[in-house]
Amino acid sequence: MTAPRLLFVCLGNICRSPAAEGVVRARALARGMALRLDSSGTGGWHAGAPPDARMQAAAAARGYDISAQRARQAEPADFKRFDRIFAMDRSNLADLRRIAPLGSPAPVLMLPDGADVPDPYYGGADGFDQVLDLLENAAEALLDGLAQD
Ligand code: 4NP
Repeated sequence: MTAPRLLFVCLGNICRSPAAEGVVRARALARGMALRLDSSGTGGWHAGAPPDARMQAAAAARGYDISAQRARQAEPADFKRFDRIFAMDRSNLADLRRIAPLGSPAPVLMLPDGADVPDPYYGGADGFDQVLDLLENAAEALLDGLAQD
C-alpha cells in the first residue's frame, strides 16, 4: 500500500496546521504507520516563515519538533497532490472549497465532531496548549480511521 498523503490547512500556516502536521507525524511514527504529510495556509502573508515561536515552544514542551517547517500558501494543485485535506476551521474549509478544482475530493474538518480548532494567533499562551490538546485527540481519531481503510 502506498503511504496516504495528508495535507493540513489553516489561515497563516504558522500556528495550527504546522502543529497538526507535527502531532500526526509523531503519532503515526509511534504506530508504525507510513504517511506523507504537509501543511499550508489559505493566506500567503507568512510564506517562507517558520512556525510561530509560541507554537514551536508549546509543541516542543510536548516533544514535537516543528522547527523545520516553512509556511506556504495553499494552491489548487494541492487537491491533486494529496489524498485528503484537513481544514482547521470552517472558514479555512470554505476558503479551500473556493480554490478546489472541479471534481476534487472534498476537504474536511480536522476535528471529528465538526468543531473549529480556535485560532491562537491573537490570544494568550493558553491558546497554543488548547490547540495541541485538540490536535492530539483529533490525530488519534484520524489515525484510527486510516488504519481501518
Ligand atoms: P494559523 O494562525 O492560521 O493557525 O497559522 C494565524 C497566523 C497568522 C495570522 C492569522 C492566523 N495572521 O493574520 O497573520
